[in-house]
Amino acid sequence: MSVRAILTEGGRHFVTALSIGSLTGDKVYQELFDLTTEAEMGHIALSRSADLVVVAPATADLIAKLASGLAPDLASTALLATDKPVLLAPAMNVRMWNHAATQRNVAALMADGIHVVGPNDGEMACGEFGPGRMAEPDEIADRIASLLGAETLLSGFKALVTAGPTHEPIDPVRFIANRSSGKQGYAIASALAQAGANTVLVSGPVELAPPPGVKLVKVETARQMWSACEVELPADIAVCSAAVADWRPVNAANAKLKKRDAVPNIALTENPDILAGLARHGAKRPSLVIGFAAETDDLIANAKAKLASKGCDWIIANDVSTGIMGANRNRVHLLSASGTDSWPEMSKTDVATRLVARIAEKLGKHAA
Ligand code: C5P
Repeated sequence: MSVRAILTEGGRHFVTALSIGSLTGDKVYQELFDLTTEAEMGHIALSRSADLVVVAPATADLIAKLASGLAPDLASTALLATDKPVLLAPAMNVRMWNHAATQRNVAALMADGIHVVGPNDGEMACGEFGPGRMAEPDEIADRIASLLGAETLLSGFKALVTAGPTHEPIDPVRFIANRSSGKQGYAIASALAQAGANTVLVSGPVELAPPPGVKLVKVETARQMWSACEVELPADIAVCSAAVADWRPVNAANAKLKKRDAVPNIALTENPDILAGLARHGAKRPSLVIGFAAETDDLIANAKAKLASKGCDWIIANDVSTGIMGANRNRVHLLSASGTDSWPEMSKTDVATRLVARIAEKLGKHAA
């Protein structure tokens, strides 16, 4: 494996380019505008030439720059320009790590599909104790190996993911919706694409950036979502994480309903069940169909019933009574014919990575 290093101005206070260069056996890149010949690698080529970009240590400042899309130096420019997976190993003072701004920035980056390892609890260079210590080199190396190994895990497979809520119009300005943020579905689509699957994400209205390498099809209603999914068949894997509205108004009014008129009586009718439709599609049924069960009570019992009634292979059950919707972390249980596997609480990105590893295992592919 070859490693190319970028050394930031802050980093130069701790290590020299000479010592880094003697480890990588390559030029150490430092300045945005220090190229002397065309043959040398510019920041765009530099960011694209790698299979993976690792930031270790990732400071609060660099994390903030990346979260807001700022690119004042070579490292931040390369990070903004890359189309490859990015892994951050944060390291900073405990108060800086716990600061609302840092937490907000890390959450935003994770929602964008950026991977984060650590930080760990422990004693820091400044003498304080708590979370902020960079993950151990072995942990970072393990994450690198799994991210690189995952790259071709699902190549040759086509994956279809639904995400977000649907909006069911009442009139031109009003609709029925729900609190789904789409974060878990977007993270899954991103992880599937990073694992090499040809991934199509059919998404209801959400405030999220399209995951890199994914074909995004935007829809509003359940019926549009179903048509968009059918067009994409055949597929090998279907992950239905969308919170599809169960009902829609029978007739959406063509003009805005007026408050001065009588309180409207909105007749509802059932929407197509996309998960059940895919699971019972006959010849075009994806070989692995995965649904979600978002429940506020009797989680496992309800999820088991859903596994049977929908005809899917797996159900990912999560308790949504605890503010999971819209959050960045999740605690899920994977239910299949062979039993229930309960995962510890983790980020939605990590849930996605773990799910993709399970999918690859099921389809007969294993990480190196
Ligand atoms: O029936 P319920 O909505 O609780 O089931 C949740 C699962 O079914 C999720 O995977 C969701 O994406 C899927 N679903 C669907 N189409 C519907 C309703 C739910 O695909 N109309």
